[in-house]
Amino acid sequence: MSGAAVNEYHPGLEGVIASETAIANIEGTDGAGGLEYRGYRIEDLADKVSYEETAFLLLHGDLPNREQLREFDGRLRKARAIPEALVTLLGEIPANIHPMDALRSAVSVLSHFDPDVNAAPTDHEANVRKAERMIAQMATAIAYRRRLSKGLPLVPPREDLDHAANFLYMVSGKVPSKTMRDAFDLSLVLYTEHELNASTFSARVTVSTLSDIYSGIVAAIGTLKGPLHGGANEEAWKVLERVGSPDKAESWIQDALARKERIMGFGHRVYKTGDPRARILKEHCIALAKEIGDDRWERIAEPIEKAVTSQKNLPPNVDWPSARLYHYMDLEIEIYTPIFAMARVAGWAAHIIEQLDHNRLMRPRAIYTGPPHRPVRPIEQRS
Ligand code: ACO
Repeated sequence: MSGAAVNEYHPGLEGVIASETAIANIEGTDGAGGLEYRGYRIEDLADKVSYEETAFLLLHGDLPNREQLREFDGRLRKARAIPEALVTLLGEIPANIHPMDALRSAVSVLSHFDPDVNAAPTDHEANVRKAERMIAQMATAIAYRRRLSKGLPLVPPREDLDHAANFLYMVSGKVPSKTMRDAFDLSLVLYTEHELNASTFSARVTVSTLSDIYSGIVAAIGTLKGPLHGGANEEAWKVLERVGSPDKAESWIQDALARKERIMGFGHRVYKTGDPRARILKEHCIALAKEIGDDRWERIAEPIEKAVTSQKNLPPNVDWPSARLYHYMDLEIEIYTPIFAMARVAGWAAHIIEQLDHNRLMRPRAIYTGPPHRPVRPIEQRS
């Protein structure tokens, strides 16, 4: 055997350091724990910076000044239109296909039309340009697909609206209230980046072969889809719907825990004492529920949260409150995970660019558990 020695086996790669990154820290650089994007605590970013500023921070290394933001935002707004061929495809994919599968195909198609299609995979500047276009166009693709699959006329993007407001407008045809827009923007900020989670890891593995940024994002979308990762925000909503009313919440959760059911929206591989994103979003859920005058889902969520946290020591993760937040915005469950993807694309892209800027092929090892060495018998002697 050559190369580094094969060390201990860590199922699920738990605790394994597979990369260096300057993008996010989920332990907090001041030792206090928590999530930081390029040194900024998520609690300090929340409600102070927009999704556009956050995406700029991840792609360009620091928060933008006014001029940088104006230019960056301008580029995003101008890049929102998607190719006609993709619009046609989004209309022809069967209506019952999950929006995450449609999004995976959409990003693949977008790659063929990117003006930098022939740039080298390691071309840093071209990758940043591609990332900016993907941030703008994935939002349009998700909204268009939603409307096409429901037989509704398309609502083209509006250049006078920012990223969050424009997305909600393209989905519903209505310009959202300021409270809705702000809460949605915040959810995007909180979803933007999270170190070496499964989808980001798969993006980095993909481009570590010197494959291109679009392939990395397609791999990440496929990985995010699963219910143990991004798909959990849809599953969290199904939990609330299954319970149905506040008076049933306590008995429902006790039965589910007795059956050893996995409660979606709870637990985290790294955060064992709580996900800071969930704490921030919960406050906004309560405020939005109040604004729309319906606190039913908060009253269902609360006893479930208390029971899972106290009895299983599993606090809620970001997907638990985000499911309610999106419901209050009249967004349908099927686009909860695509919304996660349209936010996380900035984080994925930043990681892909970081990987390609300092690349080494990702190639771990496995412990062999199959049969020992044995002879190959002619076919007539095989049982
Ligand atoms: N509900 C009930 N029990 C749970 C849950 C849960 N949500 N999460 C973990 N457990 C239990 C497991 O059943 C297992 O119990 P056992 O030892 O008795 O068999 C134990 O805790 C360890 O479970 P693992 O899956 O090995 O723990 P891991 O650290 O890998 O868990 C994970 C992380 C996958 C997120 C898990 O907590 C989970 O499945 N949660 C629900 C899905 C979810 O919300 N995913 C979103 C994560 S955040 C994100 O991706 C943005």
